[in-house]
Amino acid sequence: MIRERPRLAPSRSLERSTALKAHAIRRIPTLAQTFSKAPTQFVQGVAPVYLERGAGSHVWDVDGNEYIDYPMALGPVILGHNEPAVTEAAIAQLQRGIAFSLPHPLEVELSDLLCELIPCAEMVRFGKNGSDVTSGAVRAARALTGRDLIACCGYHGWQDWFIGTTTRSRGVPQAVRDLTKPFVYNDLGSLERIFAEYPGQVAAVIMEPVGVVAPAPGFLEGVRDLAHQHGALLIFDEVVTGFRLDLGGAQRLFGVTPDLACFGKAMGNGFPIAAVVGSRAVMPIFDEIFFSFTFGGDALSLAAAIATIRFMQEEPVIAHLWAHGATLKDGYNRIAAELGLTRYTECVGLPPRTVITFRDEQGNESLIYKTLVQQECLKRGILFSGSQNLCYRHSDDDIAITLEVYRTALTILAEAIAAGDALDRLEGPVVEPVFRRA
Ligand SMILES: Cc1ncc(COP(=O)(O)O)c(C=O)c1O
Repeated sequence: MIRERPRLAPSRSLERSTALKAHAIRRIPTLAQTFSKAPTQFVQGVAPVYLERGAGSHVWDVDGNEYIDYPMALGPVILGHNEPAVTEAAIAQLQRGIAFSLPHPLEVELSDLLCELIPCAEMVRFGKNGSDVTSGAVRAARALTGRDLIACCGYHGWQDWFIGTTTRSRGVPQAVRDLTKPFVYNDLGSLERIFAEYPGQVAAVIMEPVGVVAPAPGFLEGVRDLAHQHGALLIFDEVVTGFRLDLGGAQRLFGVTPDLACFGKAMGNGFPIAAVVGSRAVMPIFDEIFFSFTFGGDALSLAAAIATIRFMQEEPVIAHLWAHGATLKDGYNRIAAELGLTRYTECVGLPPRTVITFRDEQGNESLIYKTLVQQECLKRGILFSGSQNLCYRHSDDDIAITLEVYRTALTILAEAIAAGDALDRLEGPVVEPVFRRA
């Protein structure tokens, strides 16, 4: 028996969302604070623009429509919205104060907790966003080695040193862009070429230890060994993988220990907190570099992070994410296969965070097909962005309902592909990529 079906208003009005958006166009460039939350990412006219509240795995838009949430705030909400243990810890701390003029003892408690759990962690500094700690780690590596170049693989945040490598590099000086050299995941040769071309110049290799593709046997070990042979530090960017794949991060799951690692997103179940951790051989450089900001170490986020991590230690959170994520992933791919859509769409990635891809007849990314599936999911109460970040409160019922909706949406996609009229079926503009193809 399915109980928790999201309740959409019968006419599914988006009146308040639409009015707020019309007003905000004059006030807020991009209409959002994060590109991935912006109206360009959701089919306008069908998608809500503003969400107002959440409980567990469900969210409500400003018009009262309910959705099963899969972006989960782009990953942070790992337990569920308004999880009582975290909310209560935050309220208790709120009543004692948020920000002080000297360090708070919770910093010591949380750093102990991280050092118990994360293999490379012997010392810790806190930030607010993932970008704070990836940029702090890069600065630390440059200071320690006296070198300027960085080799990177994955996404690492909004700061100049990384974003200059992407198609959103406007405003980043060419001199800064020239200092960061991307390499290709699972292609050790692409990293070897960077070291060969710039001998003695690379301060650090920073990488997401895993994205949607699993590491090839020996790849992570190979990166570590190459970095160390060339006198560079290895930094794992665990902003996504941390506290999602394993409580000790991907480094514990795959048994490869970096020199420094960066955590964020899921650490505080939605509270803004991040951490850079590393060995005692490396971390004291933070005494020398400038890594310091007003809100670093605010007591509210520290209390929330401690409550979140303790909850994950006590409850089978990680096992839940793997099991429910696998049911969702396998279910999606089974439905796609039954409908003959395997060459057009696939759910990829490790179960706690999966991504649904769409391809056209030529095998290129299809934002039209993505938009159509998103549209049909939204109409049926699934908040679909393409990323499925599982949380502890995603229930068996949520997954069963979602797979039913996916079957309906993919049936519509199959009909549209057969008729060649996917674009005509869209009730709003095609969603846009955050990073355009170069
Ligand atoms: C792997 C990775 N690193 C770093 C970041 C940057 O984190 P933030 O957006 O919190 O600054 C992100 C954000 O999506 C990320 O996915």
